[in-house]
Amino acid sequence: MAAPAPTDEERRLASLVRAHDRWRGHDVFNLLASENAVSPTARKYLGSDLAGRYTLPLTTPFDGETIDNSYAGTRYTDEVEALANAAAARVFRAKFATTRPLSGHLAALSALVPLLPPRSRLLAIAPDQGGYDGYAPGFIPAVFGYTVRPLPADGPGHSVEAASAVATIRAEKPQAVVLGQSFFLFPYPLREIAEAAHEHDALVFYDASHVLGLVAGGEFQDPLREGADVMFGSTHKSFPGPQGGLLVTDREDLFAQLDPALVWRLFDNAHWNRIAGLAQTLLEMERCGRDYARTVVQNAQRLGRSLDELDVPMVAEAQGFTKSHQLHLDRVGLRERHGVGAGALARRLESQRLLIDLVGRVGTAEVARLGLTPDDMPRLASLLVRAGLKKEKVASEVLRWRRSYPRLRFA
Ligand SMILES: Cc1ncc(COP(=O)(O)O)c(C=O)c1O
Repeated sequence: MAAPAPTDEERRLASLVRAHDRWRGHDVFNLLASENAVSPTARKYLGSDLAGRYTLPLTTPFDGETIDNSYAGTRYTDEVEALANAAAARVFRAKFATTRPLSGHLAALSALVPLLPPRSRLLAIAPDQGGYDGYAPGFIPAVFGYTVRPLPADGPGHSVEAASAVATIRAEKPQAVVLGQSFFLFPYPLREIAEAAHEHDALVFYDASHVLGLVAGGEFQDPLREGADVMFGSTHKSFPGPQGGLLVTDREDLFAQLDPALVWRLFDNAHWNRIAGLAQTLLEMERCGRDYARTVVQNAQRLGRSLDELDVPMVAEAQGFTKSHQLHLDRVGLRERHGVGAGALARRLESQRLLIDLVGRVGTAEVARLGLTPDDMPRLASLLVRAGLKKEKVASEVLRWRRSYPRLRFA
């Protein structure tokens, strides 16, 4: 019997996905700091049979026998995970790694919840100083019974200054310091922070969600070597993997508490197609990560300079704008000098096939994957200014330029 014809809704869905893929994959320059382009091989693995499978490789007594997995058929799945974890350990130069966390947020929970009992006191950077909203009092701390106090990020572009961070740690004596920001331009004085935290046995967590791809390529900073006890983060911002998370540490005592807690406390299935795609990206980063990360940061610094030369108010001009994949528009200056807010500016740019976020960040990770180099940044800056500030129609020029990059680099 012939299969029933697709419904109108199924056809609509197919056309939405096709249209999205064309729009986001071919027709725009994506400068969203939180996103990246996934390599073709990793995308193939996302669509593999692994997408529908389970494995639970735990040796447990069950009904009078000892079983080594709740599921059958997992002979390849378990090796995929082992390969991914080994690659993550190599890329981040860590003794222990897990690729199970399903996202950056869940990677944070995977690190914090098993190691910090309720009523633990945390220091984290407040959202109004560029910190991640998840660490604000009403979110992760509210759910798990933590109190959180602000670690000051009072330097240029909400960077952390050693003296005020150390003074706050010594005064507050928290159980943990959680570093990492959503608005993240400059590395931390991590050695000083870790030394102050370790004076009273506080743990130092480094949320590398935004800068993971840079750390992988040897840029920005090397958190585990500089004193962080655990590093974790999203695998899809400056790190160009499928959406997900990972966690690494050199401390066997901590990993022995973290790893068993991953199953059943915060999640069960870990999505093995994602882990296969992540493993592929880790292997690609092992080969090309150094060039990739260097290009991303150089692009950001050159784009910052070019925008500044075109009278776009930028944060941290005196510090060279950035050491990460992000640039921050000076939102107050933008309103004063050009009469436009970051949200309205982003919508104007979107109509001309240029994507930045609506909160004032510009990211250079994905354009580096397309093949843009520092020499291309003055042209990109000019298009951003013409479209965003002069309200010129540049969409067809952007499209022609975008179409000249049909393949991903570093993949
Ligand atoms: C610093 C930081 N940590 C964690 C997250 C959460 O990441 P995910 O969206 O992968 O859960 C974000 C998201 O933007 C972030 O900026």
